[in-house]
Amino acid sequence: MSKMFVREVILSNAWLKKIYVKQRRKSDNDLMNAEKLNKYLEEAEKIFLKQPVNIRVGLVKDADNYAEEGLVKERAYYPKYERFLKNNNITYSYYDPFRSDWIDEAEKYDLIIWHTDSDPSTQDIAKGKIRILEKMKKNCFPSYDEIWSYENKVRASYLYKLYELPAIPTFVSHSKSEVINYLKNATYPLISKISTGSASFGVDKLDNYGQAKKVVDQIFSYKGKETYFKYSNQKDYVYFQDFIEDATYDLRVMSVGDDLLGYYRYPNKGDFRASGAGNYEKKEIPTEALELAYQVKEKFGSAFLATDFVYSEKRKQFLIIESSIFIGIDTCEQLSLDGIAGKYVRVSENQFEFKSGKFWVQELTLKNVIEKLVQ
Ligand SMILES: Nc1ncnc2c1ncn2[C@@H]1O[C@H](COP(=O)(O)OP(=O)(O)O)[C@@H](O)[C@H]1O
Ligand SMILES: [Mg+2]
Repeated sequence: MSKMFVREVILSNAWLKKIYVKQRRKSDNDLMNAEKLNKYLEEAEKIFLKQPVNIRVGLVKDADNYAEEGLVKERAYYPKYERFLKNNNITYSYYDPFRSDWIDEAEKYDLIIWHTDSDPSTQDIAKGKIRILEKMKKNCFPSYDEIWSYENKVRASYLYKLYELPAIPTFVSHSKSEVINYLKNATYPLISKISTGSASFGVDKLDNYGQAKKVVDQIFSYKGKETYFKYSNQKDYVYFQDFIEDATYDLRVMSVGDDLLGYYRYPNKGDFRASGAGNYEKKEIPTEALELAYQVKEKFGSAFLATDFVYSEKRKQFLIIESSIFIGIDTCEQLSLDGIAGKYVRVSENQFEFKSGKFWVQELTLKNVIEKLVQ
């Protein structure tokens, strides 16, 4: 049973939820009361718009919230957005896009801000609704265009190809006969991924033809192949990558406007997968990776984009693993050099300057979104 599935079961039971919440409050910073949340938010610099704006904002609360208990999750995005809205005197109210009256309610707003959960169900709901909200001439963050490739490795691979971005060599196909032929000539191990997945849960190594053929037969069966999402199977697509055997880390570079931040993640011993392993390091980021992350963000046309890279020693090159418009943000220090928090600012192509300070990337993003909107 996956961790996520266990969590769903616990939260569907009121009594178990009480114990769960108590445990989470005790164990770490994860759930905060109003006072603690405020202190945590105020650790970062305030971000201000260049000019005051007159817009009405609908703010969606994160799905995994504990408002009834008076608690907020550390990773929740909406309190950071809310701080920005307050500091910039922007009129807002909470908006619930999951209700049946979501179309009528949306009429109140000029801009809707919605940190969508990363699971396939929420993605499907959000994609369907944001499309309609945009037809109603409402501005949405994320936009339909931004959410189209979020948590969708297959779609992101089309964009890398289209814009000639240096991704890990990837093979995506919906044709079983083509896939079988591919397997016959492939070099093993192969990396196989599900399209929507995080923390390395849907990433596997296939060691030989026999193993790969079995997986492919399941994927192209009537039900498809089970994933860690109990309600969503991998059906009728493969996403294979060359195994970059000399990769030792996963470098995440966030890009928003001209600002860049990021950190390194390392796999546990005996594993090749860094994402979800929990081993972080914050230090200098090479110019090549900063420039690449900026270019990927520009090509994707996203206000904010975190692009993850492996570095291949042999190829002497950074290769894109994946890109996300939302990531797990625990602190307002998403970059630090020699223990000093800050961000890089891109002054011109391949030219970056370090600026110290603590920032909520959600606030940097919102500044960017709103300034573009009123331009
Ligand atoms: N083709 C590859 N070759 C070698 N290592 C890889 C490759 N793709 C991913 N990895 C490693 O596996 C981890 C998880 O892969 P990723 O595609 O980022 O999945 P997730 O969406 O679960 O984070 C990465 O952090 C990286 O360390
Ligand atoms: Mg990843």
